[in-house]
Amino acid sequence: MANPSLLILAGDGIGPEVMAEVKKIISWFDAKRGVTFDVSEGLVGGCSYDAHGTPLTDETMARAQEVDAVLLGAVGGPKYDKLDFSVKPERGLLRLRKEMDLFSNLRPAQCFDALADFSSLKKEVVAGLDIVIVRELTSGVYFGEPRGIFVEGNERVGINTQRYTESEIARVARSAFELARKRNNKVCSMEKANVMESGILWREVVQEIHDKEYPDVELSHMYADAGAMQLCRWPKQFDVIVTDNLFGDLLSDMAAMLTGSLGMLPSASLGLPMANGRPKALYEPVHGSAPDIAGTGKANPIACILSFAMALRYSFGMGDDATRVDKAVEKVLADGVRTADLMGPAGGTPVSTAQMGDAVIAALNASL
Ligand code: IPM
Ligand code: MG
Repeated sequence: MANPSLLILAGDGIGPEVMAEVKKIISWFDAKRGVTFDVSEGLVGGCSYDAHGTPLTDETMARAQEVDAVLLGAVGGPKYDKLDFSVKPERGLLRLRKEMDLFSNLRPAQCFDALADFSSLKKEVVAGLDIVIVRELTSGVYFGEPRGIFVEGNERVGINTQRYTESEIARVARSAFELARKRNNKVCSMEKANVMESGILWREVVQEIHDKEYPDVELSHMYADAGAMQLCRWPKQFDVIVTDNLFGDLLSDMAAMLTGSLGMLPSASLGLPMANGRPKALYEPVHGSAPDIAGTGKANPIACILSFAMALRYSFGMGDDATRVDKAVEKVLADGVRTADLMGPAGGTPVSTAQMGDAVIAALNASL
């Protein structure tokens, strides 16, 4: 059988630095576990614009469609703020999501024991937190038509459209129910059915799919604003949250911050199965390109490393090895190894991006 294939798109800012640590882990799997990945690399975001005048070339898009999984670092930076909307770095990422049809975006928010003090919330509220937000990623207001800035009378009007079809809601609902069955069997769906027709339809379809196909899973519904409040008040009441593209963008940033460590959280964006049975997939850290610290060796590579672990789990059927990587990260944190973002008020000496990667490799070696 052919080796599993990966396309690495490290992107902008700290993307290449954190991805360098993932490459060490990929080499570790080759050397120590006999798993060889066929790795190719490409450009996305501002670096692609600089080289080719577009945030994603057709060739790179085509390559992304062929491989078993895409690993992405981060895109964007102040250098690109003034670019035309159509060539902004973010458009490269949105094109990948849309054309690969990555409708189900899994964003775990997990509080590592060693870091429970870092949250802005009380320790007892977040300690042991382990939830996943399933965000719809290819539709809704991010892509709905009509959109644009138009002239109406003597002023301009900015328009975006929230649009969801039943099948779009149904497929992301199914992915949330499937995930819940492997976890604590609870799904909470969030929308604004009190003010939006798309929210009414969302609630109805999620309920129908539940009743017909997943009656064993516990389902609740919340308005997204109340859901945001509950996420702050007592996040441990949730297991899996399923929500639309825009609410998912907001709620997942909030959930991430609960854990006190945006630099730690991975994500998986999954689509339909390909001919080989693997889902179309892109893995990326939740954090952005952090241009303020790019090139300083301060970035925390853990989110990117854990994103690779998600690839092992969801694309390559290597759940045990994914757990091995997760545990290696936990061990390193428990041992007190900290990048600059994880320095508490007590201070201490932070390790560099590369030293953190090396510590994870050492923990992986110890796991054999
Ligand atoms: C995210 C980001 C993106 C989004 C941006 C970079 C386009 O905020 O992945 O959450 O809005 O989806
Ligand atoms: Mg976001």
